[in-house]
Formats: sequence, C-alpha cells, structure tokens
Amino acid sequence: MDKIKSLTGMLDLYDDGDKTNLSAKLFYLEKKIKDIFISYKLNEIRTPILEDINLFIRSVGGASDIVNKEIYSFNDRNDKGIALRPEGTASVIRAIIEKKLDQTNHKLWYMGPMWRYERPQKGRYRQFNQAGVEILGIPEGMPEFEMISIVCSIISEFKLQNCTIKINHLGTQKNKELFCNALVKFLEPFKEFLDEKDLQRLEKNPLRVLDSKNNETQNILRDAPSINEFIDSSAIDLLNSIQKYFSDICNIEIDYSLVRGLDYYSGFVFEAVSSDLGAQDSFLGGGRYDQLCAKLGGKDLPSIGMAIGLERFAELIALKDDSVKVVSFLIVTSNLEPKAYKIAHQLRSLNKDIILDIHLSDGSLKAKLRKANKNNSDYAIIIGEEELKNNTAVIKPLKNELEEQVTVSLDDLYSFFKSI
Ligand code: HAM
Repeated sequence: MDKIKSLTGMLDLYDDGDKTNLSAKLFYLEKKIKDIFISYKLNEIRTPILEDINLFIRSVGGASDIVNKEIYSFNDRNDKGIALRPEGTASVIRAIIEKKLDQTNHKLWYMGPMWRYERPQKGRYRQFNQAGVEILGIPEGMPEFEMISIVCSIISEFKLQNCTIKINHLGTQKNKELFCNALVKFLEPFKEFLDEKDLQRLEKNPLRVLDSKNNETQNILRDAPSINEFIDSSAIDLLNSIQKYFSDICNIEIDYSLVRGLDYYSGFVFEAVSSDLGAQDSFLGGGRYDQLCAKLGGKDLPSIGMAIGLERFAELIALKDDSVKVVSFLIVTSNLEPKAYKIAHQLRSLNKDIILDIHLSDGSLKAKLRKANKNNSDYAIIIGEEELKNNTAVIKPLKNELEEQVTVSLDDLYSFFKSI
C-alpha cells in the first residue's frame, strides 16, 4: 500500500538523542529562550493557531506577500474564512482587545508554529516555529532599548558568531507616505528594467522594492532617495544611540534600506541576519507597530515586538555535551519486578538533577549496557533477581575506566545517587 507522506515544507521534529539534529537543537533553544524571556519578566500568551482570515488581511496587509500568496486558508462548515496563523503579532493584539486589556501596558512572549505557503528551500518551511515578544502600551523610547537588549541577550547566550542586527527607522505614517511617493517618482522612469515581481511591489507596496533580490533593481536603487532624508532627527538619534550602547555586545548596523515584509510597521524596525545561513539569512525580525491595535478596533496602543525563526536560529548553534549526568537503570530479571521500579522512583525523588533512564525492553545485560553506553550514560545501576533478594544493587561506572563496579546496599545506593 502507498505510504502517506508529510506535507511539503513541514518537518517532523523528533529528538533521537543526536545533538547535531535540528530537532534536538530546536527543543533546546525553546527551553533556553523561554528562560531568557522569563528573566525579562515577560508573561506568556498562547493564542489559537486558527483565526478569522480578516485579522491578517487587516494587519499583515492585503498587499503583503504573506496575505497575497502564502496564507493557508479554508472555509469552515459555516462558510467562515479561516486562516492558519502566518505570524503571532496580529493574534496577540486581537486577544488583548478582546480581553479589554488594550488600555494598559503588557510585556508578552509566545512560542509556537506558524504557516506560510512559501517555496520550500533551506531555512524556509511551510510550517515553522517562532518565539516572539510583544511590548504593548509604551511609545517609542525605552521599549526599543529593552527589545534590542533581549535580542542581544539571546545572541550572546548562544555565542552566535557572524551575525549582525540591522536597524532602521521608517518614521511616522506621514514620513513613510512621503518617502513612498518619492520612491515611486524615482522608479517610474526605470519601470522597463524592473521584473514582474518588483513592478507589482511598486504598484502595491513600493517600500518592498527596496527588498528586491534582483541585482538590476538594486543597481537602480543606488541613486534612489533614502528614508533618512524623510525622518526626523530624533529618529536618527535613536538609531545612533542604540548602535552606540549595544555595539560592544552585538554587531549593530544602521541600514536605511531595511524594510519589513509586513504592513503594520512604522518607526523603529530591525532584523538579525547571519552570514552562516545562506539565502534565507534573517533569523529574527521585528519593529514598532503603533497603529495596529486601533486598526483592529482597539484603543491606541503603541507597541513594538519581534519574532525569532527557531529553525533558522537552530542552524546556528552547536549543542555541547551538557553537564547533566545520565544514569541508566537496568533491570535484569525474568519477571516483572515492581520493587525495582519503586527503587527507581525513590532515586528520582532524591536527586532531580539526574536523568534516570530505565531500559524498559527485555534483553540481555550486555545489550542493555551497550545501549547505556550509546546513551552517553555516566553510570549503570543494575538490579537482577539476586540483588532484589538481598536488597542490593550494582553500580557500574561507564565513563571512568579506573572506577570499579561495586555492589552496595539500597541505603548506600540512595546515598550514592544523592551525591552524584
Ligand atoms: P517575520 O520577519 O515575518 O516577522 O518573521 C520572523 C522570523 O520568522 C524571520 O526572521 C524568519 O527567521 C522566520 N521565518 C519567517 N518565514 C519563515 C519560513 N517560511 N520558514 C522558516 N522561518 C521563517 C514576523 O513574523 C513578525 N510577527 C515579527 C514581529 C513581532 N514584529 C512585531 N512583533
């Protein structure tokens, strides 16, 4: 019979113990990043993965690639248009408005899968995971520094090399409009040299032409007007100040051509890129979106946020052999021996820092020891019928060849386990 396969661009994440696997790195990242978020006193928010499709049309934007070409959507049994979320920000703001919390400040984090129907390639999936932060209710100023501080903490925690945080300022809505008009005016005479994609961008969302991957377009853009001619000096001061105060921690570059693919941004925007990633080099992105809440029917709620692409970030890290000790618990008896499980339970309660791996399958002691070595265990605790009868256990060191295997009483086993 034909086997059913997973959908294109959607990964099964499974940690098989190999630390070089993307899955192992991603699971590790999730844990570590969560700890960093908590250390910044961010609160978790978890929204549904399905939303009314209009949420994304009104936020991410009807002209964006995401809504135009990439959204996964369907009509439910009631003929309502539903979308799998392509990003997290719109859902967070929807939830805050719905809970009538849009008049106060919030510092939030979330983690979970997102969906975009993109052409899969290295670092680009149709289902991928993001870890995001949204700081709501505070106008431009301190939150920008807090956000860059979070980004720097994450980059430093994983000692990422070869990465740059690009920052830019899109100005106010008015500045953005004036810049767009100037850009369109500049590009008009070059229309015949633009490809189909850039022509569409010029028509629907001119700022996105700056993001073009086409070399010819990039050559033309060299003489184009730049956003820094249209924004206030306070915006330029902010960029300079962020660069000045964080450059000793992370590589920060002011890039006036940085635009983001989602429509809701104005003001400060940023993206982190790594030269170790190839074509899809951006592993994190965000910015200020002061108008979004009002646009979705809520109060004026000045906000800023960012999201990390966890699969891309995972590509950049190497997992060390962690210092957590692993002990394999080998029960070698012909019958099911509940007493042995009780001993294991007891051990676990005595030292929560140890990973105690009970080998559940039948098999010879030799096979079980082979598996314990493969699992990188530090010790094996072996219990057979003899040991159960005498209330003893065997402790066999697996990493230190100089240490001898010993038979000990259960009390000594408990003391030993506590001391590892
Ligand atoms: P974004 O730039 O669209 O921003 O996505 C953030 C990150 O998600 C990207 O930098 C990238 O690492 C990852 N990503 C995006 N698409 C894919 C894909 N197809 N496969 C793998 N990774 C991908 C947002 O989503 C905004 N909501 C960020 C934000 C939060 N802005 C304000 N608050």
